[in-house]
Amino acid sequence: MMSSNYDELKNIFVDVVDKSAYVELESATYNYDVLESSLDKPLKMVLLYGKPGTGKSMLLNKLYHNLKENREIHYFEAPILSEKEFLKSIYEGMSGQVIPERMRVNFDGLLKYCQKLKNQREIIFLLDECQLYSEPLMEKIRLLSDTRVVKFVITLHKTENEEVIAKEHFKTRIWEVIELCNANEYDLEVYIQKKVIKKGFVDVSNSIKKRDIKFIHTHTNGNFRETNKYLYTIFDIYDYYEKNEPKKISSNKFSRKILEMAAIRLGYINA
Ligand SMILES: Nc1ncnc2c1ncn2[C@@H]1O[C@H](COP(=O)(O)OP(=O)(O)O)[C@@H](O)[C@H]1O
Ligand SMILES: [Mg+2]
Repeated sequence: MMSSNYDELKNIFVDVVDKSAYVELESATYNYDVLESSLDKPLKMVLLYGKPGTGKSMLLNKLYHNLKENREIHYFEAPILSEKEFLKSIYEGMSGQVIPERMRVNFDGLLKYCQKLKNQREIIFLLDECQLYSEPLMEKIRLLSDTRVVKFVITLHKTENEEVIAKEHFKTRIWEVIELCNANEYDLEVYIQKKVIKKGFVDVSNSIKKRDIKFIHTHTNGNFRETNKYLYTIFDIYDYYEKNEPKKISSNKFSRKILEMAAIRLGYINA
């Protein structure tokens, strides 16, 4: 098939959370619009909810970069698990001051500080990976949001066995819940094609047919992280043949055999 820069192709499918890697998909665009407009509603918290690999971090990252010029917004890309560090970062974000290492931010003091700013400022904090925060820290986050001076947008992994949002503390608050799902076949096709075209591989995009997308979707369920892994492996195998047995990959279509080999390598199907 196609061009022979498989090394470059496989690297298109390395997981990154970065606005430059974002591609417009119907579902992502819809969710993004709901997310952005939810910030104009009188909500205390907005929850981005979905299985790992459905694009939560990607949306949060995009929100930050789109709004940072015009809003008071802070982005905690990695969770800050120590309560001391967390409260410090919130205060630093709000005040623009740096707190010396040995000092602590007192929680009640922080609440009072928020209350004083009521109707004057609204500060948005974006917290990724909130399933990692402890219960007591989540409770503090909620109390802070009750002041309506700080608003939180949080992401939370949906797990198979436990309905996190059914938990007690999520019931009482004023919430917007945006649930992200795996891509359908159509969005998956757009995802793969836009990613390769963006890097100039129009020929590769043309060689991936509907039936290939179907096959990929069967194995990855349309999960973006899983799809990245699969496409990476496919191009890795192409890369190997190109370097070692180039005669075996001479056709101009996406090889079903290599799709299958990659599926075996990832344990999607048994050899
Ligand atoms: N809209 C999108 N545009 C481009 N890539 C995306 C998009 N959504 C997800 N991805 C890809 O899927 C991977 C997983 O998405 P991520 O946002 O990290 O999922 P989650 O945070 O839900 O686990 C990312 O590394 C990225 O490569
Ligand atoms: Mg994430």
